Amino acid sequence: MGKLKVLPAQLSNMIAAGEVVQRPSSVVKELVENAVDASATQVSVIIEDAGRTLIQVIDNGVGMSPADAVLCFERHATSKIATPEDLSDIITYGFRGEALASIAAVAEVTLKTRRAQDDTAVQVKIGGGGQTKTASVAAPVGSNFAVRNLFFNTPARRKFLKSDNIEFRHIVEEFTRVAITRPDVSFSLTHNGREVYVLNKAKSLKFRIMDLLGSSVVSDVVDLDTKTAEVEVRGFLGRPDTARKTQGNQFFFVNGRFFRSAYFHKAVMKAYEGLIPDGVTPAYFIFLETDPHTIDVNVHPTKTEVKFEDDSVIFQLLYACVRETLGKNSFGASIDFDSDGAVELPKLSSHFGEYLGNSAPEIGADPTFDPFSIHSDGQSFSDVADLGGGGSIDSVHDAGSGFTRHNYVDESQDYGKLFEQRIAPSSRTLTVQGKYI
Ligand SMILES: Nc1ncnc2c1ncn2[C@@H]1O[C@H](COP(=O)(O)OP(=O)(O)O)[C@@H](O)[C@H]1O
Ligand SMILES: [Mg+2]
Repeated sequence: MGKLKVLPAQLSNMIAAGEVVQRPSSVVKELVENAVDASATQVSVIIEDAGRTLIQVIDNGVGMSPADAVLCFERHATSKIATPEDLSDIITYGFRGEALASIAAVAEVTLKTRRAQDDTAVQVKIGGGGQTKTASVAAPVGSNFAVRNLFFNTPARRKFLKSDNIEFRHIVEEFTRVAITRPDVSFSLTHNGREVYVLNKAKSLKFRIMDLLGSSVVSDVVDLDTKTAEVEVRGFLGRPDTARKTQGNQFFFVNGRFFRSAYFHKAVMKAYEGLIPDGVTPAYFIFLETDPHTIDVNVHPTKTEVKFEDDSVIFQLLYACVRETLGKNSFGASIDFDSDGAVELPKLSSHFGEYLGNSAPEIGADPTFDPFSIHSDGQSFSDVADLGGGGSIDSVHDAGSGFTRHNYVDESQDYGKLFEQRIAPSSRTLTVQGKYI
């Protein structure tokens, strides 16, 4: 008799979880991405103890049928692809059907979900031993995932979790990476009962970035916008004089998905050569839009690596358009586009419009704004005006949560750039500080 055994599902899911669920922020990423994939327009993330005790994501998306609510925890159960051809046409965040099975293998999960056409919601509880209990319950349309006791059965993982501050910072990073690309969706993030972010729908990417990272980040950038046959490159580049020693606000997205690329980072840094001193990194928010057939996101279970059909073409394009944009904005007189070695911008494609997203930055202002009225949340004009001044900003949202900061504190003492000079959501900021537009 042979020695081979096919592992039971619970064990193979635990093994897969090793890659998919590295820390609490991985769970946040997977659940928030699922919510957006389910067409939610409102996504609330509730965290207790940096995710050790509770990670809950509530959405108003399409919900699931009672049968799907059970099936979604099976490995390779997905509604997002069906055929091998679909693999090269991915427009959703998910497609591997692995995340929920992996999460349920290393935590206790309760799901409540309801579709618009169903009268009642279904509740599915997956206990520690993998046993499933279902019940009919009342709940609004959408899905509500609560993940408790993460890594209860993988003590090594639990032990390697870092401090709550560090784990929560990872959560904010993952939350940011999804929220930044979807200004058309409202998001909130609550930690230990305190609202860390309340992001109303934003008018454009720029407003969403401002809501997430602060008005100073947005006022220190120039627009990047280039279209070629292969790819559209849009986004924002930090002014060279605002480049920092610490990294933090460097983002690449392709078709709305955050990805890492040391190679493309090099292209951007090369374009800044001569404009910034050694050892500093500019902020950048670069959104690539391309035909999904030309990229492969199925490189790693977490999908933060993306393979492009021709990396070197994108490298050159990035270098050229960043360099050109910086030159156009006359940062440093030293840029000479006729010099040897300069890269020509590829020619524009007449088809490029097809890839244009619908969230291009737009200008807006609130014509009904009355500076002397009290805001609906009870905050007076003078309170809001104070937000632009620095010190009081974070105490509005972060008091007591451990994230209090002032613009003048030493960066090394706090949570890094993600929290830098963060201000109130755009609805309020806009009315008072229209000049940021
Ligand atoms: N928030 C949600 N709303 C509706 N359906 C969901 C939600 N989360 C997950 N699902 C369903 O469960 C399936 C499995 O989810 P997941 O394990 O994350 O795999 P994937 O996202 O790769 O398909 C999804 O394909 C989707 O059909
Ligand atoms: Mg998923």
